[in-house]
Amino acid sequence: MNRIDIGDCELALEQRGAGPILLLVHGFPLDHSMWDEQIAGLSQDFHVLAPDLRGFGQSDVTPGKVTMDQFADDLAALLDALAMDQPVALCGLSMGGYIAFAFCRRHPGRLGHLILCDTRSDADSPEGQRGRLAMAEHVLKAGSSSVVAAMLPRLLAEATTDRRPAVVDHLAAMIRSTDPRGIAAAQRGMAERPDATDLLRQIGVPALVVCGQHDSVSPPTHMRAMADAMPDSQFVEIPDAGHMSPMENPAAVNAAIRNFLG
Ligand code: MLT
Repeated sequence: MNRIDIGDCELALEQRGAGPILLLVHGFPLDHSMWDEQIAGLSQDFHVLAPDLRGFGQSDVTPGKVTMDQFADDLAALLDALAMDQPVALCGLSMGGYIAFAFCRRHPGRLGHLILCDTRSDADSPEGQRGRLAMAEHVLKAGSSSVVAAMLPRLLAEATTDRRPAVVDHLAAMIRSTDPRGIAAAQRGMAERPDATDLLRQIGVPALVVCGQHDSVSPPTHMRAMADAMPDSQFVEIPDAGHMSPMENPAAVNAAIRNFLG
């Protein structure tokens, strides 16, 4: 992995392949390796960029709060640092999708295609916001391992949890190794993200919406409605997968992305 200086911090970046740029933005509280199967498979056709976001993986941590706008600006600064000024295909999962919405608002000219995986367009309820702020305080005291057991069952389809120990172990290892200050900062940032439902109608680039069949965090009904609201979109449901569809059924996700961008 390279480390790229983006101004006030350095981001770790996995970069592979050649061709049109595909920027993969990971979910919470994970790192670029959630895209391992996409990096391996899609780098045959694309120049894949898979950064660790600020506060995650091997990137620098800036404690306090990191907003979705800040994460989006970091991605634009990363592209600047790499001297890549052509429009990119941006693919974000869950929190990566919230960041993609901020990128659409703040850097529309840099976007050629949008891929939303297992994410939501609405903002948090007051109860949801309180839950995030409580988790931020808790994780700073009790450490990242303390949130693994609560998070895992939400993220995976039951069949994955029962029969795919390698996926479960990889996911748990990513959460455990995330700096608690990074987890707290992103939770505070997600708690105040704006509703993106109105934005959907204004998205001026082709969009692909990908959702695991058993995703309980951002269910297919919600994501199909998101796709319906966008002027130029496709919806693909991924069988045998929950919220982490790129890890749970990488062949189907890679095929959907390849068809869309192909
Ligand atoms: C994620 O997978 O990024 C999280 O589920 C996002 C969230 O906590 O809303």
